[in-house]
Amino acid sequence: MKLKFPKNFIFGAATAAYQVEGGRGEDGKGESVWDLFCDIPGKIDRGETGAVACDHYHRFREDVARMKELHLESYRFSVAWTRIIPDGDGEVNPAGIAFYSRLIDELLAAGIEPMLTMYHWDLPQALQDRGGWTNPESVKWYTRYAGVLFDAFGGRVKKFITFNEPFVFTDFGYVTGSFPPGIKGDHRSKLLAGHHVLMSHGAAVRLFREKKLGGEIGITLDYAYNCPASRRPEDVEAAARANEFWAGWYFEPIVFGHYPKYAAKWFEAHGMLPKITEEEMKLIAEPVDFLGINHYFCNYVAADPSNEREGTRPVYPCVPYSDNGWPITEDGFYEMLQYFRSVLKVPLYITENGICLNDVVDVDGTVEDSRRIDYLKRYLAVLSRAIEEGLDCRGYYYWSLMDNMEWAAGYKPRFGLIYVDYATQRRIVKQSGRWYRALIDEKNQTQREGTPRLVKEDRTAFTTDAV
Ligand code: NOJ
Repeated sequence: MKLKFPKNFIFGAATAAYQVEGGRGEDGKGESVWDLFCDIPGKIDRGETGAVACDHYHRFREDVARMKELHLESYRFSVAWTRIIPDGDGEVNPAGIAFYSRLIDELLAAGIEPMLTMYHWDLPQALQDRGGWTNPESVKWYTRYAGVLFDAFGGRVKKFITFNEPFVFTDFGYVTGSFPPGIKGDHRSKLLAGHHVLMSHGAAVRLFREKKLGGEIGITLDYAYNCPASRRPEDVEAAARANEFWAGWYFEPIVFGHYPKYAAKWFEAHGMLPKITEEEMKLIAEPVDFLGINHYFCNYVAADPSNEREGTRPVYPCVPYSDNGWPITEDGFYEMLQYFRSVLKVPLYITENGICLNDVVDVDGTVEDSRRIDYLKRYLAVLSRAIEEGLDCRGYYYWSLMDNMEWAAGYKPRFGLIYVDYATQRRIVKQSGRWYRALIDEKNQTQREGTPRLVKEDRTAFTTDAV
């Protein structure tokens, strides 16, 4: 398996505040929508909450030391708005700023580049009580918060991400109801919230430019790309339509400056589309420095006129599946990257990609997750090929650095390169973590010698020192 990555390509890993930090209410932290949502019986599997999570709030130094051991080149983390401004738009909390300052300094001292996500779903509850993202005021709330982050961390942080996966938190928040605010079937609110999120993104990008801090700013969108089940033109058109309703709804305004046309017409005809002005679209399309994409799997669809919205039906591929039931579809990943290559004018980062497995600690204390390595090899081979063919992708962040709270699914799903024993908070670097380190070493070796080599296989490349 040949994995060849360009000079300066960044390999990192990602987490998000609510999923790893814990430290609920500590040092003046306000309550977020996730704090309160988890308190409602029945919302989260096994009644679990993020109150303690991986206790990263207290153990971040140890975690940065692990990152260093893994030779990570960058760490993508998110800031909890409620640590910085506990009620969302009131007083700034110096203790919250101090926490992230310490984390950033620790990373920089370890030679690990921080990539800062400004919003990874944990809206201050006080703002939700005022309508959350459906309130047009949310653009002002977010822009002020963004300014506080730029002033506090600009300069030391060179890569800011305004939002993580707007599709997921608006859709799950207002349509499926599985995320806060837990509303079901309200497409109108979903689109309104999404519109304000996109405007907030644009306003933050403008502010970032005004402040002339140096560094780069972008947004992370989830793209579970819809691939056509066959090359028949009707299936190809059906897949394109499906993409408009899903990830494309957020991708197209950022990249093309308008909402996807077919889907917009459909939403409008069904009374779901908010009023949208040209000014607002201009704000949304404020040029970014890069686009972040989170990608886990593709969906396959065929044309089906009996579905009056997208005109598609799902077709289930005969591929391996992860332990949370997601298909492993690296061929679709390649198709998606081809699409990006044809339309994107800014560099791309894969800000998340990874696999959920039911990892176990062996009797000898190690976690041998060879299926995760297999997943990595499949997806990275595709990425490496796409880059060789001309895709401007500058980095890859594995999700996740360590096992953590998978939102409404709680702690059972494990995605990490590092295993977390939640009872003791002990961390164990998995076999995949050791493999990832070898991959990074190999790339840097390749850089020095100028000759591509094969990534060394796991066991031979490691002693158990990382465990
Ligand atoms: C996307 C989200 O950004 C992250 O929070 C989540 O845990 C992973 N995907 C896995 O579902």
